[in-house]
Amino acid sequence: MEHLSIKGGRRLTGSINVEGAKNAALPACVATLLTDEPVILHRIPQLRDVSTILATITSLGKRVTREGDRVEITHGETLKAEAEARYVKQMRASFLVLGPLLARLGHAVVPLPGGCTIGPRPIDLHLQGLKRLGATIEERVDSVAVSAEQLRGARIDLPYPSVGATEQLVMATTLAKGETWIENPAKEPEVADLIDLLRKMGAQIEVTPTAIRVVGTESIHGAEHTVIPDRLEAGTYLLAAAITGGEVEVKGVVPKHLRPLLAVLKEAGMMCFEGNDTIVLANTERPHPVQVSTAPHPGFPTDLQPPLVAMLSLARGKSVIEEMVFERRFGYTPSLKRMGAHIVLTDRTATITGVSTLWGAEVDAPDIRAGAALVLAGLAAQGFTRISQLEQIDRGYAKIEVKLSLLGAQIERER
Ligand code: UD1
Repeated sequence: MEHLSIKGGRRLTGSINVEGAKNAALPACVATLLTDEPVILHRIPQLRDVSTILATITSLGKRVTREGDRVEITHGETLKAEAEARYVKQMRASFLVLGPLLARLGHAVVPLPGGCTIGPRPIDLHLQGLKRLGATIEERVDSVAVSAEQLRGARIDLPYPSVGATEQLVMATTLAKGETWIENPAKEPEVADLIDLLRKMGAQIEVTPTAIRVVGTESIHGAEHTVIPDRLEAGTYLLAAAITGGEVEVKGVVPKHLRPLLAVLKEAGMMCFEGNDTIVLANTERPHPVQVSTAPHPGFPTDLQPPLVAMLSLARGKSVIEEMVFERRFGYTPSLKRMGAHIVLTDRTATITGVSTLWGAEVDAPDIRAGAALVLAGLAAQGFTRISQLEQIDRGYAKIEVKLSLLGAQIERER
């Protein structure tokens, strides 16, 4: 099995380019199920999760041609209504195929996505929304079967602005009869990017400050689209600069997507400079402590909570981080503690008393962002850190060791 070996203690300096956003690329690939016409997607990152979603749609009948970060998705075989468990179990985003298949075929069977290390990840909001559109839902032991002769537009009040449920419902309603209002939708930039693609595919979608209005059309056509840059990858590298007292420029970003992070970094004493499509972070001192609660966009993103906690483990004082999106997203903190961090957990809150030194250790990456947090801790720690379960990090970060080496880190992928 591969692992990352890091010798900590180097200041990171230099520039890196950011990839296309994983969380925008995944629904974009799923959206191609809405049409038989070709869809060309650009800036699709070369990640394990992207390979999984492309395998999922291929198994459903699509033909995929991938050249670098350009992916062309065309009609292959007749669209199938049943998704395979081996893909949906690997990655929750595969569950998004449910809505488009239902809208195209009038029925679909998709395996339940199953548990996750960051807490229970129910699908009730996806199913309640589809029910409002007239679908009949049959929850089986390990799958869900949905059917509807014709989805009909409706008013759907989401009790929580779930990213996945919003994407599921927007895609399904592009082909529904009549008008749908999705109230309290997710406002993440990746949701906006999916809407952008769907509009290019002929969908009629209007976004208001509190709702998304979709007027169903008879058919959706092909399009060409470039996905937005990955704010979570960019944020991770900015935090890597911060934790090592370095100076790093991330290029090819949309700075406004990173404002919630930049506000916290500034409060923590970092110097941040925004260009048109660049951000520079410079830091020479230990961070100041901060208090942060994660929240749906435009709040502080839950995905950057683990790398932020890694940085705060070296702050001058006590930080308090509340995780309000996923129940069990502090699962990586025992590993940080083994590296010398001082963290006390109560329910959804982590209280982090900054220490002056972290020490290298052998740790596992439990999920994508937790893995990134441990990489950051390893970069700042004294001595060697060895991180196993690298496949988790590879789900969300392209060539992390290459990018960090370019910034001066001593990091290697080893077998
Ligand atoms: C997406 C992102 C993930 C990010 C998350 C929150 C992708 C592929 N993944 O995940 O990286 O951390 O948004 O920004 O885009 N919930 C329910 N019922 C539902 C659906 C969700 O209770 O039917 C709850 C979840 O348990 C969780 C919260 O809502 O506590 C947020 O989940 P959601 O916004 O749906 O996240 P995902 O789409 O799974």
